[in-house]
Amino acid sequence: MQIRQTNQVLNFDKHPTFEKDIDLKQRAWIEVKGRALESNVRKLRSKLSKDCQFMAVVKADGYGHDAKVVSEYAIKGGASQLGVATLKEGIKLRSHGVKKPILILGNLYTKRDLIISFKNDLMPTISSIRECLICNNIGKHFGLKFSLHLKVDTGMSRLGFESDKFIQEFEKIKSFDNISIEGIYSHLSSADEDNSLDPKSITQLQKLKFKKLLKKINVDSNHNIKIHLANSAGMLLNKDFHFHMVRVGLSMYGYSPLAKTDKNLCLKPALFLKVKVAFIRVIDQGVRVSYGGKFVSSRKTKLAVLSIGYADGVPRNLSGKIKAIFKNKLYPQVGSITMDQMMVDITASDEIKVGCTMVLLGSEGDKTISPIDWARESDTIPWEILCSFKNRLPRVQVD
Ligand SMILES: Cc1ncc(COP(=O)(O)O)c(C=O)c1O
Repeated sequence: MQIRQTNQVLNFDKHPTFEKDIDLKQRAWIEVKGRALESNVRKLRSKLSKDCQFMAVVKADGYGHDAKVVSEYAIKGGASQLGVATLKEGIKLRSHGVKKPILILGNLYTKRDLIISFKNDLMPTISSIRECLICNNIGKHFGLKFSLHLKVDTGMSRLGFESDKFIQEFEKIKSFDNISIEGIYSHLSSADEDNSLDPKSITQLQKLKFKKLLKKINVDSNHNIKIHLANSAGMLLNKDFHFHMVRVGLSMYGYSPLAKTDKNLCLKPALFLKVKVAFIRVIDQGVRVSYGGKFVSSRKTKLAVLSIGYADGVPRNLSGKIKAIFKNKLYPQVGSITMDQMMVDITASDEIKVGCTMVLLGSEGDKTISPIDWARESDTIPWEILCSFKNRLPRVQVD
């Protein structure tokens, strides 16, 4: 390739030119630690009885980690099923060669989507007789049984059959010849709240409702139907929530949703958010920094400009509330976080240079910053922090 610049002809053949030539770690990136995921699944599985299965919840691109990598390591750790939210997420995993059973946790309501789900060997979640009938017809058309899970609402008021009507409807569903009921499940709304072990808590009442319902439909006698209720919090509360399978997301990624968790569990964060220092400047005392000029330096200050901003998924309302780690020391972020960059006060460091890497989430030495810390500061939940990271941040798998 030749490029004419001013009067010179430059030969670029030997030089990096294309998008693929860009170093993934040139700006900001997410490191995904496969072995941490695998080890978290093993540790969590050790809390389950032998015949209780572990469904790895890998929706939203594996909570922002990369669903393909997460699935691979979760399966290595012993996950026997995967949970996704959408048809597309399920198909993508199948295209990567994932063979394990996959449950779509969201609702498919058109015949078209249900046919696609069937043809890709994905199990839909069914919340009404109408969709059950569509599945039965699809099964009949292909001369096969359509595998699916039935969902019952016990307190989320989201998806699921109404629990009062389910007993009657289950009788009807059992008579459909071309569906195979692989599971019956419900979802906990408040298991991460501090009072979840209190018999009067929402969580205990949900469990009670679910158990009563199962008794009424006499499902225990049919061991082929998997019963499941617990998310991470439910799973960590106690065995009473485990039934035949648990559906685990957050804790598999290394974070406990409970305020009090068994210290011996030692979950390891699987996501590290790292960023390069792109520029350094020194400002005098009394100088405004970033949009709105809300931060004013109280002394001569050395600023590192980091190549990451809210367009990468760092919430803007964390401005001035987060820190970056470099060589086991913490440096405060100052001024408004901008679309593509943010500033960090590195006055205390002689070592940080342009091109150095700082850690925004994860650990270095004995310093750790977790999505739980960010969530607390930005009045949200760690799930949202993890799912907010955009595709502009390359996911780099490390072990
Ligand atoms: C139906 C269902 N089951 C399980 C999970 C996993 O939850 P957690 O990440 O708290 O483990 C989710 C996540 O939102 C969900 O929607």
